Amino acid sequence: FNTDVAVGGSGRKPPSFAFAFDIDGVLLHVAKPIPGATEVLKFLNDYNIPFILLTNGGGKHETDRVRDLSERLGVELSTDNFVQSHTPFQELLDGPDGLRDKTVLVTGSDYEKCRAIFKAYGFKNVITPADIYAANPTVFPFQHPSTFTTPTLPLPKPLYNLPPTSNPNPNPTTLPSHLKIDAIFVLNDPRDWALDLQILTDLLLSHNGYVGTYSPRNGNGDPAVLGPNYGWQTDGQPPLYFSNADLLWSAGYHLPRLGQGAFQAALVGLWARLTGGAELKRRCIGKPQGETYRFAERVLGRHRRGVLRVMAAEKTDGVDKEGEAGDNVAALERVYMVGDNPESDIAGANGYESENGTDWVSVLVRTGVWSEGRSGKLEGVFEPKVVVDDVMAAVKWALRKEG
Ligand code: G3P
Ligand code: MG
Repeated sequence: FNTDVAVGGSGRKPPSFAFAFDIDGVLLHVAKPIPGATEVLKFLNDYNIPFILLTNGGGKHETDRVRDLSERLGVELSTDNFVQSHTPFQELLDGPDGLRDKTVLVTGSDYEKCRAIFKAYGFKNVITPADIYAANPTVFPFQHPSTFTTPTLPLPKPLYNLPPTSNPNPNPTTLPSHLKIDAIFVLNDPRDWALDLQILTDLLLSHNGYVGTYSPRNGNGDPAVLGPNYGWQTDGQPPLYFSNADLLWSAGYHLPRLGQGAFQAALVGLWARLTGGAELKRRCIGKPQGETYRFAERVLGRHRRGVLRVMAAEKTDGVDKEGEAGDNVAALERVYMVGDNPESDIAGANGYESENGTDWVSVLVRTGVWSEGRSGKLEGVFEPKVVVDDVMAAVKWALRKEG
């Protein structure tokens, strides 16, 4: 590495640049470190060059995933410099439409893990598709899929006396006996697409999220078609949140695998068929969304101030004579975003308008989703600043630029 720009005890000025690393396809293929990944992160840690891990992956609580990553990569990592796809969902707990005390449905790779993550975030009432199945197995007429866990928690009361109703306009007084889902979250790549698609479309077609009800209005999405007085209140669908839109991702197989974006595409297609063409209303965070990069830049800023404060203390024999170095540290001028997916990592970095005037420089590696032969042309927002072989080459390129 060109350590000329790397800072360390030599007392050089703190770096005005940092790195953001995607995980799948850049640092890991699922559980297997990609060559160079460990060396790179160790080097950056040793030379006090700040970085964050910014992944569209998910399915574990941040503390568990970081512990897992530290073990697999053999590098000390912390939740201070880690952002995964569903981390920002915590921002929906409070505020005027806060969901902390409401009832939310979550799905992803493991229902109980998804429930535990949201409980740890602070959501009080968390339901999974397996709960709804357990309360009324006729909701899913096919062979019980072996892969999903049966709920271990006592189910919320209303779910037990779930009177199945085909009445498209149930009497509001009976509704309290139905469980009401106030929002739906897809945390990471679902495993049981069949059950998830059934339960999610049931809820999206329901009266305001009441389990077991049906409202043709949601399907059409156009009250005028059903007459102004239809129904007993606005049949708003429960809001639907996805944590990323990755159609493909780079795992252990030599070709990219379907990701959460593929599940989203399946639901969008199914919704169009069920409703005669209505568009599925949903919100999707994760890379390449600007709000995800803004959230990541704030995490990186906090982490960098901490790193530079330690460095200042080391430099001035334990006492930071320059005042709180972390607070009046030079602005972060550049972040090198190292990714493998032009649609999420490159487009996100290229498109993000930093609130601090920081320049996000997109660097595409050849170890993941994108490959010259198979993938589309890199044009417009998908065109990286540079294409390099792997994460080691990416960091060397950046350090030369900073030299
Ligand atoms: O589920 C993982 C996939 O969405 C890709 O994650 O780390 O390449 O952003 P990552
Ligand atoms: Mg990736």
